[in-house]
Amino acid sequence: MSTNPLANKAQAWSALFSEPMSELVQRYTASVGFDQRLWRADIDGSLAHADMLAAQGIIAAQDLADIQRGMALIVAEIESGEFQWKLELEDVHLNIEARLTELVGLAGKRLHTGRSRNDQVATDVRLWLRSEIDTLAPLLVAMQRALVELAAEHSDTVMPGFTHMQVAQPVSFAHHLLAYVEMFARDADRLADVRKRVNVLPLGAAALAGTSYPLDRERVARTLGFDGICQNSLDAVSDRDFALEFSGFASICMVHVSRLSEEIVLWMSQNFGFIDLADRYCTGSSIMPQKRNPDVAELARGKTGRVVGHLMGLLTLMKGQPLTYNKDNQEDKEPLFDTVDTLRDTLRIMAEMVGGIRVKADAMERAALRGYATATDLADYLVKKGLPFRDAHETVAHAVKVALQRGIDLAELSLAELQGFNPAIEADVADALTLQGSMRSRNVVGGTAPSQVLAQVARHRERLAG
Ligand code: ARG
Repeated sequence: MSTNPLANKAQAWSALFSEPMSELVQRYTASVGFDQRLWRADIDGSLAHADMLAAQGIIAAQDLADIQRGMALIVAEIESGEFQWKLELEDVHLNIEARLTELVGLAGKRLHTGRSRNDQVATDVRLWLRSEIDTLAPLLVAMQRALVELAAEHSDTVMPGFTHMQVAQPVSFAHHLLAYVEMFARDADRLADVRKRVNVLPLGAAALAGTSYPLDRERVARTLGFDGICQNSLDAVSDRDFALEFSGFASICMVHVSRLSEEIVLWMSQNFGFIDLADRYCTGSSIMPQKRNPDVAELARGKTGRVVGHLMGLLTLMKGQPLTYNKDNQEDKEPLFDTVDTLRDTLRIMAEMVGGIRVKADAMERAALRGYATATDLADYLVKKGLPFRDAHETVAHAVKVALQRGIDLAELSLAELQGFNPAIEADVADALTLQGSMRSRNVVGGTAPSQVLAQVARHRERLAG
């Protein structure tokens, strides 16, 4: 009774095994190299389980006290780096349980009553992911705030809006930035929604079928802050759709980051020259002395590939698994860890970088003046004078053709020349043809008119406050 069966893992599965694992199999099947990251969740889960076992009279009060004392020692050992993680003990769960038994004896051996590593690991990953979600949510707020505050200064800064990468219509830089705020706001909603389904307790499912001990699962859920308990033990131990959902959220969010990064790279290029980034977000070239490269934005764009890749990996991991737990599931951790780490660092650095964007308003305006961005405004002007839109469209196409041939903007055509295209044109056309006039006219909710954009800034500030 005084031996610790976990001290030698070949014996952990009982006397059934007649030979030890080969070194290669041990290394191949072990997860402790990465899942030790779950240690705090593992200990919190064990303490909640032990507390419930004692409350239900399944273990003695003294056992609970011993387990609590042992776990406190283990926390101190892990935090100080003294804890000896052992490959032969396979994973975080067996490592901690074995150490507990070394420290407190019999009580350590009683901890696993009514529990399996199958419901234990599912619980640990959910607990861990929940705490990571709670650190990611404020980063999404910070990202939105950085964009909103930059937008607040640029409701009158005109730039070309593009479709097909061709100059389309003038928009304000603020309006453009607020498009990303909408995307990140939806990401934040998605994350909050994912959290609801992460925050459900598997413990009590045991290996797969539930357990014969009179567990109080609701008590464990309350102790650990879960919103509810899994209602089917087979599902509880086997599905990882909460991880898939998180990974889906993270992929979509990174795709948004990637699109913004792509724009930052373009805007900073000499061909656009719309913005400049602070030096601390750029790197030089080892051969070309003139270079200042937007490496951070490029890496954010590049790292999107790995996060999307992890989603594909996890989906593929799950697709062929019959119920219930299979060791395949051990492969869920590294992609999930890397997804969290990548997203966290990326959101932090992007929010900082956006806050340091220097806007070159003149270059934006010059670019907007180059591509006949107000052609639609001239057509709309003619419609207001009574022309059907299709005819107005055709008339303006003629005007653009002439202006193109002469290498000038529509606004540079004289009133007499414009009237040659349609006599309904009057002196008030000038306002329609300016970039600012065009923006002001798009005074619909969701439009680029400065008053609308400022109203959106105010709405976002209120939404993101607190
Ligand atoms: N290390 C395992 C994992 O990550 C823990 C569960 C192992 N369960 C089992 N029956 N082998 O999934």
